[in-house]
Amino acid sequence: MNASPPSTVFVGVSGASGAPYALRLVQALAAAGCELQLCVSDAGVLVLEHELELSAQGRDAVTAAFLERAGVAAEVYAADDLAAPPASGSSFPDAVVICPCSVSTVAHIALGTTRTLIHRVGDVALKERRPLVVVPRETPLTQIHLRRLLELAEAGAIVLPAMPGFYSRPQSLQDAVDHVVGKVIAALGFAQTLFPPWDGGRR
Ligand SMILES: Cc1cc2nc3c(=O)[nH]c(=O)nc-3n(C[C@H](O)[C@H](O)[C@H](O)COP(=O)(O)O)c2cc1C
Repeated sequence: MNASPPSTVFVGVSGASGAPYALRLVQALAAAGCELQLCVSDAGVLVLEHELELSAQGRDAVTAAFLERAGVAAEVYAADDLAAPPASGSSFPDAVVICPCSVSTVAHIALGTTRTLIHRVGDVALKERRPLVVVPRETPLTQIHLRRLLELAEAGAIVLPAMPGFYSRPQSLQDAVDHVVGKVIAALGFAQTLFPPWDGGRR
């Protein structure tokens, strides 16, 4: 998709289930040499705490524990900090990934009803024509969810649902997580090595 892979990536973690995807994603981006910007929504804090079984409580502590678990460094922005640099097209990252992306955040970006920094960064990515990858996780999807996702795709976002493939024969839950994250990494223009490419079924 990109001529050259991004060097600065904003990762928004919203309150959909899928904290292991977010964890693996920041690790993979850091390993690819990216400078990371991280913003976790209020609901995202609850999900990280619960799904990663973090003992930390509160936004700052949970975000710090998440980064420590991942073993990566990031510039951290609060979800209500609408004056943060990435909120402006004049100091914008090279690419944005919202992973996992709640259907609430999908709808806010599609409708332009910015309430958080993650919504704003999604909105700016679209207006500035910067790569925006959203990783929605919800099931079943209503017609409303599907319409909003279509609007995002029509506006230029890559809608990359958290739907692991099984053709790479995952042996563990981590392999399945890696499949989704590998697709995100590839969508950003990196060579991904998190799962083996399809070989025509010859393995
Ligand atoms: C443990 C937990 C799991 C959730 N899982 C999902 C989910 O998979 N998908 C989703 O769209 N919302 C999910 N939600 C609901 C969202 O967190 C909620 O709609 C919230 O308002 C989203 O706000 P945000 O997009 O600003 O993070 C979950 C909430 C909790 C507490």
